[in-house]
Amino acid sequence: MDHFQYHEGVLHAENVPLPVIADAVGTPVYVYSEATLRRHARVFREALTPAGSTHFAFAVKSNPNLAVLRVLRDEGFGADVVSIGEARRALAAGIPAADIVFSGVGKTDAEMAEAVEAGIGQFNLESEEEGIELARIAAERGLTATAALRVNPDVDAGTHDKISTGKADNKFGVPFFAAKDIFSRLAGLPGLNLRGLAVHIGSQITNLDPSRAAFAKMGGLMADLRRDGFVITHMDLGGGLGVPYREGEMLPTPAEYGAMVADVTRDWRVTLMFEPGRVITGNSGVLVSQVVRVKRGANHPFIVVDAAMNDLARPAMYDAWHDVVAVAPTGSRTTANVVGPICESSDTFAKNREMDAVQTGDLVAFRTAGAYGATMANTYNSRPLVPEVLVSGDRYAVVANRIDPATILAAEQVPDWLK
Ligand code: LLP
Repeated sequence: MDHFQYHEGVLHAENVPLPVIADAVGTPVYVYSEATLRRHARVFREALTPAGSTHFAFAVKSNPNLAVLRVLRDEGFGADVVSIGEARRALAAGIPAADIVFSGVGKTDAEMAEAVEAGIGQFNLESEEEGIELARIAAERGLTATAALRVNPDVDAGTHDKISTGKADNKFGVPFFAAKDIFSRLAGLPGLNLRGLAVHIGSQITNLDPSRAAFAKMGGLMADLRRDGFVITHMDLGGGLGVPYREGEMLPTPAEYGAMVADVTRDWRVTLMFEPGRVITGNSGVLVSQVVRVKRGANHPFIVVDAAMNDLARPAMYDAWHDVVAVAPTGSRTTANVVGPICESSDTFAKNREMDAVQTGDLVAFRTAGAYGATMANTYNSRPLVPEVLVSGDRYAVVANRIDPATILAAEQVPDWLK
């Protein structure tokens, strides 16, 4: 359920008609619904409550906007970050350092040092080498870094190859067969409080069986480590729950996910940690764009919109589907290709799509664009960086400005020898 609905024939974000925002801010523009963010955060939390003691760290990468982070902080979420930049954002949003989990396969010494000094709550270690480094950095400062060991369970999440992370040949975590030995070596290091294990097998997971299998494997490893005398108090089960991208698509619900987790983990006696991203933010945002023109094609017309792959990269990168709807539909339908202005064919949002008929100047909305949308935007083709707006009831505010190409040009210079 989200709060993007048609009222009197016009698509609204909560109580604000999208054309009002498009007129005031221009297009393309991302629009988020605060009520939807809050609803998704609560639904997810409530679904996992039966599983016992829990900690929720919002995956900042899915939507790092400061205002979005503030909403999630209000909902009691910590943050899962993968760079010091994301950690600084989470802190700037008022998320306590103790509630931040630092994931990521390439944490640098400088990042770890800053994070240790800031009192980051948990480091999810991706390798033995990283654990040794972190222990040294913390010990040198007279501090102890709290950590979990990320294990690669070698389970296929059944998602797109580019967003799968739990197969043996993916770069994430330590190999399952080596995890016990690595854990025992790291557990004794001064400067490190290794308190648990972490797993994350991929994103946009649409079937619960792979997660169940991965969690069961992790439970076995935990029991094994406990038999050897290690104390495990925290198990981080990552994020990954998928969301419907097409109207009418049926996916496992947070409640079903919660029931599965409660079942697999019922004897674990730990604090369960979660790192949801997309399931909170995905359907909380749309990308609003204006039709530049409709041009004839060999088979179907091309609807050229003013958003492009630099604003919403998912279709170009993962062949991802986003529903495209008219903001003020007339009732007539068409079959068309929806494309952006960038000079490559990957700048295609929809092919041979049966959709609302639109004309030059009309507004369209790309649905389910709140996760991995603005955060992956760039300025390819010297286009502006897309702005973001947050709606709350009757109110809206620009929460990220459009960054003009001139600002980027101003950060470039011609070296002396070319002057
Ligand atoms: N935790 C870790 C360690 C992760 O790597 C990720 C996502 C998450 C949590 C959050 O996963 P979520 O709940 O959002 O599925 N750009 C891609 C998705 C990349 C996901 C990367 N990792 C896309 O647009 O589909």
